[in-house]
Amino acid sequence: MTVNPLAPSWLAHPEDANVLPPAVWSQNASRSASGEIVVAGVAATDLAAEFGTPLYVVDEADVRARASDARESFDREFARIGSAAKVYYAGKAFLSAEVARWVTEAGLFIDVCSGGELAVALAAGVDPARLGFHGNNKSLAEIDRAVSAGVGVIIIDSLVEIERVADAAARHSRVQQVRLRLNSGVHAHTHEYLATAREDQKFGITLADAPAAVARIRELGSLRFLGLHSHIGSQIFEADGFVEAASRLLALHAELLRDGPIPELNLGGGFGIAYTSADRALPVSTIAASLAEIVSSECARLGVPVPVIAVEPGRSIVGPSTFSLYEAGTIKDVLVEGTAVRRYVSVDGGMSDNIRPALYGADYSVRLANRGSDADPTLVRVVGKHCESGDIVVLADYLPGDVRPGDLLAVPATGAYCWSLASNYNYLGRPAVVAVLDGRARLIVRRETEADLLSRDAGLPDHQSQGAA
Ligand code: LLP
Repeated sequence: MTVNPLAPSWLAHPEDANVLPPAVWSQNASRSASGEIVVAGVAATDLAAEFGTPLYVVDEADVRARASDARESFDREFARIGSAAKVYYAGKAFLSAEVARWVTEAGLFIDVCSGGELAVALAAGVDPARLGFHGNNKSLAEIDRAVSAGVGVIIIDSLVEIERVADAAARHSRVQQVRLRLNSGVHAHTHEYLATAREDQKFGITLADAPAAVARIRELGSLRFLGLHSHIGSQIFEADGFVEAASRLLALHAELLRDGPIPELNLGGGFGIAYTSADRALPVSTIAASLAEIVSSECARLGVPVPVIAVEPGRSIVGPSTFSLYEAGTIKDVLVEGTAVRRYVSVDGGMSDNIRPALYGADYSVRLANRGSDADPTLVRVVGKHCESGDIVVLADYLPGDVRPGDLLAVPATGAYCWSLASNYNYLGRPAVVAVLDGRARLIVRRETEADLLSRDAGLPDHQSQGAA
């Protein structure tokens, strides 16, 4: 075995490049006797033949199991300390009507953060009382719609929003429950753009401003204060950031309790997942247990009752459930600095269906999906078909050396922030999303067609004749 010097140090040379590491793949993904990847009884080649590529393939039972596991873990750990928990699914990770149903059937609430996400959840038939509405710049129309729809709680993100939500609630003769989002100042160990509770950013209000803001909320008859909220960031692996944020928030929570009841405390989401076999994600039961322990001991120390704890995981519910299925096209061996060869494998999608490597330097892994192979593992870089050299899907992994045009490639852990961040760059249509369960695959979001892409271009004759309707 010769090690390619271009391989990053975290990437181990595999004995067998066909293996699907269970931490990175969904629960029902495996290889068939013939070697191809099968998910919940459906083969990758059948999925590609029926639905085309690129394609997001969701293991439905895996999403449902992760949602139930999160709810059960938090219920159990907070019941143990004499309280209760609410788990919101953060819809920004990936929201469609089906996903909204799966997570609500598992007993989760849903967090939405725009009028569009709210519209999807409502159209899916989710009880509005089970929705939390977020956003640092909610429009007046969005606030009005959320209030009139009967959204369970609005998370106030700025001082001006207190008056805006109160006015809307008064207009609709409602008492609107609200949380107050705080910038706790805790630095999460994650990519800078994914950390949301540093001082120098746009979300929430400072701990110092919170007492006056809560006093104002309490003055307003159309608002009911449910509690404080903090989200420290995303793709976090260590529990210490959550523990620190919880203890800072509880100190303030205890101080504010002197002037009125505060039934809940929301600690946000951000639980990390494994994208490659080098990542070690904490099980949700461990996170729930650590949070229950710190909340219980801090409340005892402060002499206050344990509030109901809310959390908002998105990535950890849907991320590991999905793989992206691509067809390999051109393959080039590129000599780098005259010494080592990097094999570029181009696929039929790219940064339009997965912007995360370009945006955050995120790492992914890749496997040959339509067959197994005994060929020696070769270091590859999987790239897309966009006109941009940063159009990378998998920066570095090993594929069997006989990978060839027409092979299917699967990139796991693409369930969160891939479809939801997808674009039409270079006029590529966004891929379809297919759910697979018990040997059956069904479309949950259809592929965008060329007609979809042209339909909004008001300069086309068809549109002009329709009066650019
Ligand atoms: N709650 C709030 C207030 C949030 O802002 C977020 C994520 C979540 C919950 C859910 O976080 P999760 O459990 O999914 O990590 N596009 C980035 C992630 C942005 C996260 C934004 N907020 C990415 O692809 O990594």
